[in-house]
Amino acid sequence: MIVCSCNVLSDHDVRDAVRTAADELPRNPKQVYGCLGCSAECGRCARTIKTIVDEALGACAEACFAGCPHSRGETEAPLENVFALAAA
Ligand code: FES
Repeated sequence: MIVCSCNVLSDHDVRDAVRTAADELPRNPKQVYGCLGCSAECGRCARTIKTIVDEALGACAEACFAGCPHSRGETEAPLENVFALAAA
């Protein structure tokens, strides 16, 4: 489903941006736009993109507030750990 009509981004594009992030995980719409090589135009999609990002990050989104390595700016943590955390 297209979630950003200005940039023609689908929900799959957003999830893939989170799942395949090489460096820092995108945590907000601006970072997602950056990962996907575009930028906000009208901004109507920001809330939807944020919801998709939060769902994709799952438990990690909550854990980061409790001190997981991502909240300290340590980006070397393997992405598998993020998804293992999300599955826990
Ligand atoms: S719908 Fe995404 S920037 Fe306009």
